[in-house]
Amino acid sequence: MHRSPELVSSNEGYRLWASTYDTTRSPLHLLEEHVLSRWVQDFRRGVALDVGCGTGRLMRWLRARGFESVVGVDRSHEMLQVAVDTDCVVVNGDAIRLPIASHSVDVACSSFTLNHVRDLQLAAAEMARCVRTGGTIYVAEYHPIATEHNWTRSFKSDDQTVSIHLFPHRTEDYIEAFQSVGFSLVRMAEPKVGLELLAINDPRVPAFVDRFAGVPLILMMMFQCAKT
Ligand SMILES: C[S@@+](CC[C@H](N)C(=O)[O-])C[C@H]1O[C@@H](n2cnc3c(N)ncnc32)[C@H](O)[C@@H]1O
Repeated sequence: MHRSPELVSSNEGYRLWASTYDTTRSPLHLLEEHVLSRWVQDFRRGVALDVGCGTGRLMRWLRARGFESVVGVDRSHEMLQVAVDTDCVVVNGDAIRLPIASHSVDVACSSFTLNHVRDLQLAAAEMARCVRTGGTIYVAEYHPIATEHNWTRSFKSDDQTVSIHLFPHRTEDYIEAFQSVGFSLVRMAEPKVGLELLAINDPRVPAFVDRFAGVPLILMMMFQCAKT
């Protein structure tokens, strides 16, 4: 019998997903990394912070591109349990009260996390506080348009589809939140699902491309500290 997806909180969702999160490559992650590989050339390679680091995917990616050190913060103990296998420092904590010293990182990143945070303004202020003068903030999120195409943050757990609750922030909400804490938008991309994803060896991909072809599923933004 077909069961409709069970909607759960972010805490519960990532508790259930942690052990299998890394077993399949998400097409969204590949799209993000494809664009980010160009942007990263403009990042100051020093200390990077990953807010909502999860199992460490982006931290590993940044280390492989020459960052001196990467520190990750996440609210889920279960996701961090997987991330401890990276050569990065991981800390349990919340995006709205980061356990990180002020002005201590060159780049603060957050991928697919701020949509789980109700108060975007608080999260933006915390990321801005941690960044050194002249530093960069990078954010990737599920695109607001994706939800109009019935896209959900879901996965399978015990044969049941589980969908994780999101706060649907608008593009302008992100831009205004970071501008209000002294960061200007310097780059934005809305990569669309395209045929290049078919190169991924994953049985889910053809159906994914079929369903979302031409739809921008990710919103990527790079902000620069207004003061230099
Ligand atoms: C979709 S995962 C993204 C993980 C990783 N950034 C990546 O792109 O693979 C979202 C992560 O955000 C974390 N998260 C959600 N709300 C959070 C908050 N308020 N503070 C810190 N982490 C949070 C979750 O526990 C989860 O690990």
